Amino acid sequence: MVIDVTSQEEQPIEFVVFGATGDLSQRKLFPSLFQLFLDDCWPHSLRILAVVRSDMTPQGFATLIQPECERRCDASQTEAFKNFLSHIELVQVDAHSQHTFENLSQQFTKAAYQIFYFAVSPTLYEPLITGLVTQRCIRSDTRVVIEKPIGQDLPSAEKIHHLLKTVFEERQIFRIDHYLGKETVQNIMALRFGNAVLEPLWRAERIDYIQITVAETLGVENRGDYYDQTGALRDMVQNHLLQLLCITAMEPPAQLSAFSVRDEKLKVLSSLRPILPADVVTHTVRGQYHVNTVESASLAYSKEPGVKSGSQTETFVALKTQIDNWRWAGMPIYLRTGKKLRAHRSEILIQFKDVPHKLFRHSPSSLLANRLLIALQPEESIQLFLNCKTPGKGMSLEPVALNLDRAQQATQRRWGAYERLILDVLQGDLTLFMREKEVSAAWGWIDPIIEGWARHMPVPEPYFAGSWGPVAADQLLARDGYIWHNPL
Ligand code: BG6
Repeated sequence: MVIDVTSQEEQPIEFVVFGATGDLSQRKLFPSLFQLFLDDCWPHSLRILAVVRSDMTPQGFATLIQPECERRCDASQTEAFKNFLSHIELVQVDAHSQHTFENLSQQFTKAAYQIFYFAVSPTLYEPLITGLVTQRCIRSDTRVVIEKPIGQDLPSAEKIHHLLKTVFEERQIFRIDHYLGKETVQNIMALRFGNAVLEPLWRAERIDYIQITVAETLGVENRGDYYDQTGALRDMVQNHLLQLLCITAMEPPAQLSAFSVRDEKLKVLSSLRPILPADVVTHTVRGQYHVNTVESASLAYSKEPGVKSGSQTETFVALKTQIDNWRWAGMPIYLRTGKKLRAHRSEILIQFKDVPHKLFRHSPSSLLANRLLIALQPEESIQLFLNCKTPGKGMSLEPVALNLDRAQQATQRRWGAYERLILDVLQGDLTLFMREKEVSAAWGWIDPIIEGWARHMPVPEPYFAGSWGPVAADQLLARDGYIWHNPL
């Protein structure tokens, strides 16, 4: 896909990255900006101002971002990295020394508008905003980009909303959840709303249950400090998994516009059946990875750098919920995410109901009813499993996948989530960003679970690194007569 931002954006843009030397900037932001540069999807008049806290040479900065950027290009494109660097200017600002903001404001040109990307801890939002306001850097066409998790609970999220609203209007605020930028997530909308054939089936009368799994093989890497204060529920479920659920379960929006899509997602969040503190024992599982000392050379979570010894932070969550509305009433939804699991795999499983009367008695008893399996990563694919006759063998059935995967047919490179979302920020399109009310509704649903855990489940269940999580997660489904779909 080639999107021509160059012709659409004539007004010069200054893209200001606060936290330019941080982990997010090195791993995602600058590599994605570089990829847009390589693909020529780059407004000619775009300047990047990389904000660094202490003195740093352009060479030092280049060395920081180079490894991830160069992974994106082949040997013939190394010159391109040098060209890319020529669009980046370093500016020294210390959020805690207000006078240093002058360094930044002096860089701005009158004709340009600014996009401020806060790739920093939310504790810095306040001094950043104060500095920008004092230097009169915020105008009606300024945009600001912030990352999840927005807050630690509803009250802290509301404080952030309030702070942003003192200077920005909602149309200026881009709250990133990078899962919404993934190609397959957008493809779910295409599949659901571009095909009338699925609509009559997309409801509790036809679907037995939905499972959403985001499984990672990585541990907390070098983010132990952040993760230990956050945990899997806040880091993944409050945002990524709930957003996946919203896209899967929302009603067809009237238009493909930010207003309509975000309205429909909000309705899903508002209809989620609460898991009250008293229900956490029956509806949730929280786990923490340990090591199987015989098989694994890796560290237990509590021994990871930055993690407090004896920490009770969860690295795994599984839960059961429902959406209380006309379309979904009564149908269970299972969400699961964890670190150091057996496989790296994110997927949505839609399990359709079985036939009302079984005619094919010679089929294996394990023969499942139809299912739609939407894999987000590491490979993207959409497969609809239908039962067909096994060739040659009497009247026995076996599942056959109809493969809706376009990855293999696509001649063009697949876009990364951050590339897509950065382009949307440049184009001012808010459709794939979270609205204030969505963030609050998600926290409103998560907070009673956190409260329940503190009261009834303060200690997470241990699971071995390299497994599919605690046994209790299997029991959660077994009570309903189901099992998790564990890809190998
Ligand atoms: C981030 C979380 O938002 O998403 C990380 O903070 C997690 O803990 C990451 O590893 C997963 O993203 P992806 O795109 O690699 O699945």
